[in-house]
Amino acid sequence: MVNVLVIGGAGYIGSVVSNKLVGDHDVSVIDNLSKGVKSLLPGEVSFYEGDILDVEFLRKVFSKKNFDVVMHFAALKDAGESMRDLAKYSQNIIGTINILNVMVEFGVKKIVFSSSAAVYGEPGQKVISEDHLVNPVNFYGFTKLESERLIKWYHKQKGIDFVVLRYFNVAGDSLGYIDPFASNIFPIICEVLSGKRKSLEVFGDDYDTRDGTCIRDYIHVSDLADAHIKALSVKDSCVVNLGSSKGYSVLELIKVFEKVSGKKISFEVVGRRHGDPASLIASNKKAEKVLGWVPVHDLESMAGSTWDAYKKN
Ligand SMILES: NC(=O)c1ccc[n+]([C@@H]2O[C@H](COP(=O)([O-])OP(=O)(O)OC[C@H]3O[C@@H](n4cnc5c(N)ncnc54)[C@H](O)[C@@H]3O)[C@@H](O)[C@H]2O)c1
Repeated sequence: MVNVLVIGGAGYIGSVVSNKLVGDHDVSVIDNLSKGVKSLLPGEVSFYEGDILDVEFLRKVFSKKNFDVVMHFAALKDAGESMRDLAKYSQNIIGTINILNVMVEFGVKKIVFSSSAAVYGEPGQKVISEDHLVNPVNFYGFTKLESERLIKWYHKQKGIDFVVLRYFNVAGDSLGYIDPFASNIFPIICEVLSGKRKSLEVFGDDYDTRDGTCIRDYIHVSDLADAHIKALSVKDSCVVNLGSSKGYSVLELIKVFEKVSGKKISFEVVGRRHGDPASLIASNKKAEKVLGWVPVHDLESMAGSTWDAYKKN
């Protein structure tokens, strides 16, 4: 049994991970509930409401138990907003520094960190391995890369081991989570299907891809959570992509949603968004080798589970 502190554990991904950890491990969660939903967490979890910007609060939580591992999910994640509000998004970096300093103070020796494909920026190749050049094109991606660099310094100087997980596009549902501020394509499509939104904006259909729309690698949140469980037993510090090694275009995704919902999706092609690469697909060879992990859910299961959660609500 590992004593795990899940920071940001009431959010979309953290709540799925916390639910999977419970039973085999001792689980504590920190969340400021800015986006998190406490009722998604099982009763066995020790929950602490508070902010990672508040060092005294962190110290109080860290003094409660001897944590073996911190999983750090707490961050702001809207890439577009990050370009407009640098001060707000610099919290991602400050929060990570606070966590690392308190880990050193309390002798916690391992961190599993939620990074992002956004660290690669506009990659020069279609299938991206972890040694690809990192060059974020939005401030959100920069905060993730800076957090990774901080973690590597604390590894070198203070002996904190790390597993940095660079997620590609996370989708699907397993707990009935509804994003209150939909900015990703899955919840946006569901808002169109449910009539909350008039139509879907497709940003550009003139890319050099099979149908002109952007291609992304989607990964089911349940598969992603399994990778975190596997990360607990990884001995050597590492950076690993989490994706499926398969890419789907926006138009292909719309078709899959039409199939699982039995409804037509109204969409409108608008101009390209700055910083949107034509194609982003993870190589998942390292994830298989280092974590012994391969995703099992397909796109239809991701679309179907997301739509089911919206229908219930
Ligand atoms: N969802 C994706 O597709 C995706 C892709 C790549 C990386 N990520 C990263 O994965 C992590 C989790 O993403 P998510 O989709 O579950 O997001 P989310 O917003 O649902 O979860 C983040 C959680 O952290 C909490 N939180 C935010 N700021 C906090 C703070 N200052 N103090 C305490 N708690 C705070 C929020 O209330 C929320 O519960 C994030 O770091 C995100 O950048 C997500």
